[in-house]
Amino acid sequence: MKDIIIGVVALAVVLLFFLYQKPRTKRYKLPPGPKALPVIGNLHQLPKQNPQRSFYEWAKKYGPILSYKIGSRTMVIISSADLAKELLKTQDVNFADRPPHRGHEVISYGRRNLGMGHFTPYYREIRKMGMNHLFSPSRVATFKHVREEEAKRMMAKIEKAGEKSEAVDISELMLTFTNSVVCRQAFGKKYNEDGEEMKRFIQILYGTQSVLGKIFFSDFFPYTRYILDDLTSQTTYMKECFERQDNYLQEVVNETLDPNRVKPETDSMIDLLMEIYKDQSFATEFTIENVKAVILDIVVAGTDTAAAAVVWGMTYLMKYPKVMKKAQDEVRDYVREKGSTFVTEDDVKNLPYFKALVKETLRIEPVIPLLIPRCCIKDTKIAGYDIPAGTTINVNAWSLSRDEKEWGPNPDEFRPERFLEKDVDFKGTDYEFLPFGSGRRMCPGMRLGTAMLEVPYANLLLNFNFKLPNGMKPEDINMDVMTGLAMHKSDHLKLVPEKVYN
Ligand code: HEM
Repeated sequence: MKDIIIGVVALAVVLLFFLYQKPRTKRYKLPPGPKALPVIGNLHQLPKQNPQRSFYEWAKKYGPILSYKIGSRTMVIISSADLAKELLKTQDVNFADRPPHRGHEVISYGRRNLGMGHFTPYYREIRKMGMNHLFSPSRVATFKHVREEEAKRMMAKIEKAGEKSEAVDISELMLTFTNSVVCRQAFGKKYNEDGEEMKRFIQILYGTQSVLGKIFFSDFFPYTRYILDDLTSQTTYMKECFERQDNYLQEVVNETLDPNRVKPETDSMIDLLMEIYKDQSFATEFTIENVKAVILDIVVAGTDTAAAAVVWGMTYLMKYPKVMKKAQDEVRDYVREKGSTFVTEDDVKNLPYFKALVKETLRIEPVIPLLIPRCCIKDTKIAGYDIPAGTTINVNAWSLSRDEKEWGPNPDEFRPERFLEKDVDFKGTDYEFLPFGSGRRMCPGMRLGTAMLEVPYANLLLNFNFKLPNGMKPEDINMDVMTGLAMHKSDHLKLVPEKVYN
């Protein structure tokens, strides 16, 4: 019976597709790409795992600009530094929009946030406010003590496990670190790490992130309306996740409105947003929904990214013991000379090899490898190909990091020295290295993100030597990624720590 229903629905989809097709008035010369099937396009060829690697292989075959189809949508992937510059600098305004995504629409309160917002005057206003206030150097600095305290807490936990020669789950520890830091920065809340409130926050966050990463049929097969989303329970799941998220964020907002609330020692980010709400200083009305949408950016973008980066870094260091030793020696010598027992945020600028290591980590595994997709606002051309309005474009930052023209013959080698030999930074103007993107939609949290990853990363190197558990060899480490907004290593990284006393 189930098969008959699926068969009938599939037939209806095909019929609707052909009814929906308007007579073509314009023929486009699209970039080359794999041959698409009617109705579904290249859906059947989409990689289930490690999309950045598959698209890198596609680029070898079809070139640095390629196109494919999902349902009725045209998708384009850019894989060279030159074309990334054309897109993100020369034609930046025309690609400053985000494509349709039903999940983004709902989760972000109708796109009132930064990450998923359409390129409107409201978006430009909150982006400016974000750059000047939420993510400004002085605001990032006000939370320095939070990041340092939480990093110390993490080191103490690892030390305890080390006494019993037990393996620790670096992936889990890093997520706990970033979750705790984000809750304190965003809401001024200090949760017990293993308590019920923290568990609830993490569950809600996972739900929200999974909706953001889903492919909704309605976006690619619009003539099916919401029928396929409903039949596959995507609609119900999305609504449940949104409801849980909204209840939580509303509780946080209510707390800030409570006249008897004890204010945190440093104004949290939600306090700042609530001031904008009270002053209504924007040209566009800034409601409580807007507050919740913008705070969501900070929570969603802030937790996963830094954690994923440190896990990838530690993974590569286990595979490259000489790099590990060199980085450990630099950090340990510096701290010994200084007569301290902890690497602070201010110390990092005095650690050139470690800074190069951070860059190499973000080069070899940019944690948002396909950046966040852009949408073309009006018909244009790139590299002689037509890009119709409405096309979704991804820049494959993972491919840019492997461009031999820019990085030499062994781009897969983990070698921080390349950043001591070559003056390249991640600030969005060196197009062969774009872990934070570039242009008008570039990551506004770059400074905060690096601060969140440097302190735990450096202190892991300072305090411990690590071994792989159960006789595992470095070549046995699974390097697959888990698809999501930020690409985590799919298997958790577990290591046996040995405390080092400097
Ligand atoms: C290692 C840490 C991080 C990395 C690697 C990273 C990377 C990125 C990337 C690649 C983009 C897309 C840029 C583009 O489309 O050109 C992005 C966007 C964004 N990031 Fe980050 N990010 C990090 C940390 C953070 C943090 C800590 C926050 C905030 C607390 C943040 C907030 C955002 C927001 C709001 C956007 C959307 C910007 C827009 O559309 O205007 N990120 N990030």
